[in-house]
Amino acid sequence: MSFSSGEIVNQVNNRNRVAIVYGLRTPFIKSGTLFRNLSSLELGKIVTVELLNRTEIDPKDIDKVIFGTVLPSIKTSNLAREISLSSGVPVTVPAFTVTSACASGTQAFTNGVESILSGDSNVVVVGGVESISDFPVLFSKSFRNMLFDSSKGKNIFQKAKPFFKMGVGDIAPDIPAIAERSTGLTMGESAEKMARLNQISRKDQDEFALRSHTLASKAQKEEIFRREMIKTFIPPDFEEPIFTDNAVKSGLTIETLSELKPAFDKEYGTVTSGNSAPLSDGACALLLMSEERAKALGFKPLGYVRSYAYSALDPRDQLLMGPAYSTPAALDKAGLTLKDMELVEIHEAFSAQVLSNIRAFASKKFAEEKLSRTKALGEIDMDKVNVTGGSIAIGHPFGATGGRIILTLLYALQRRQANFGLATVCAAGGLGATVILERE
Ligand SMILES: CC(C)(COP(=O)(O)OP(=O)(O)OC[C@H]1O[C@@H](n2cnc3c(N)ncnc32)[C@H](O)[C@@H]1OP(=O)(O)O)[C@@H](O)C(=O)NCCC(=O)NCCS
Repeated sequence: MSFSSGEIVNQVNNRNRVAIVYGLRTPFIKSGTLFRNLSSLELGKIVTVELLNRTEIDPKDIDKVIFGTVLPSIKTSNLAREISLSSGVPVTVPAFTVTSACASGTQAFTNGVESILSGDSNVVVVGGVESISDFPVLFSKSFRNMLFDSSKGKNIFQKAKPFFKMGVGDIAPDIPAIAERSTGLTMGESAEKMARLNQISRKDQDEFALRSHTLASKAQKEEIFRREMIKTFIPPDFEEPIFTDNAVKSGLTIETLSELKPAFDKEYGTVTSGNSAPLSDGACALLLMSEERAKALGFKPLGYVRSYAYSALDPRDQLLMGPAYSTPAALDKAGLTLKDMELVEIHEAFSAQVLSNIRAFASKKFAEEKLSRTKALGEIDMDKVNVTGGSIAIGHPFGATGGRIILTLLYALQRRQANFGLATVCAAGGLGATVILERE
């Protein structure tokens, strides 16, 4: 386990803070449904164009565009550049794409922060996108070899020859799995393992999932997400705007959840489609500026970055425990404690993962054995956690979630007139990321 260096972040505490001026997201939509005909590029463009329009920022003032994504299309591998070129940002503005599994959006965000802190940029558009509906499918390696050999052929016979020995198995698609390469376990199987090792019961998992839906559904009724969300019009006729996260279930009961069959370990498992984040499509974008530039341009920022930290643990261990490591590191850098956090947004990949991390925060044993600390980070007050629900109900377009939880947190802090908030995500590869924000 290691922590990334925090040297640059420490500058945040003294001077030159980075402001989050504004942010937006599309609704998060269950994959294969309403957004199935929108690509990542289109989703990213929709949210970026709206961000530029609403903030009325002169695109010439933008110094950089950075987006995170997990499943990039081969045709738009530098997705950020394509979004930038399609959104009216000048062609002379550099743009790059980052990937760090479910922390991709957070990584794009902190790369933007670093670019500003280093003095390289004053204004950066950051964000994240995912269209799981449009996931890339490969041909088998043997078929790709045939295609390659065929491309070298000088005449029609030579071009056709590599395919003479083709079997049915060669043309079977190579579909990407949401699995860890080094262990072969899917994310769901990793969540099962965590539930088992940390003794998180099916009941606890379902109750947490119910909480997520109940809070998100209440927030929808109170129109709370409307500030962070844009109406999204969809092809082919672009008539009916989509303005709600469609995985949120109102009126869900614990009985309905408890009847769902385990999704990953069919025999003994406790992780179901109900207590996991659904596969989703969506995009998020935020406008970052140096505090100085934001003030000079007359913006009233949503908040400021206080600190952040990343962690990495052995994927053979408990894969989705990243927040339990990155959170103490980010709090230390901020000079704050868990108690100081007035609100916490934790990405809900699975109920089992959230509950495992929250238990680790409170565990002296975990602190001693895994963090070499004498005291536990502390008990978390659940009234401060994911107060408008989380990814289990809202959805989880992988690359967009990191930005979404930062945005949701900032608006929640604003509603409560609170100052400090913490946003944390776990990610495949054993990664974790935590960002600490302040409003004043
Ligand atoms: C869990 C998972 C496999 C389920 O996929 P799926 O089977 O396609 O999911 P569906 O949405 O079709 O749900 C399956 C069933 O459960 C039901 N269901 C799902 N969520 C429900 C809920 N909250 N309440 C009641 N029923 C629910 C659906 O209605 C559906 O029922 P049906 O078969 O009668 O139509 C998938 O969402 C997944 O892989 N999630 C995890 C993603 C992941 O790994 N993320 C990375 C994290 S690091």
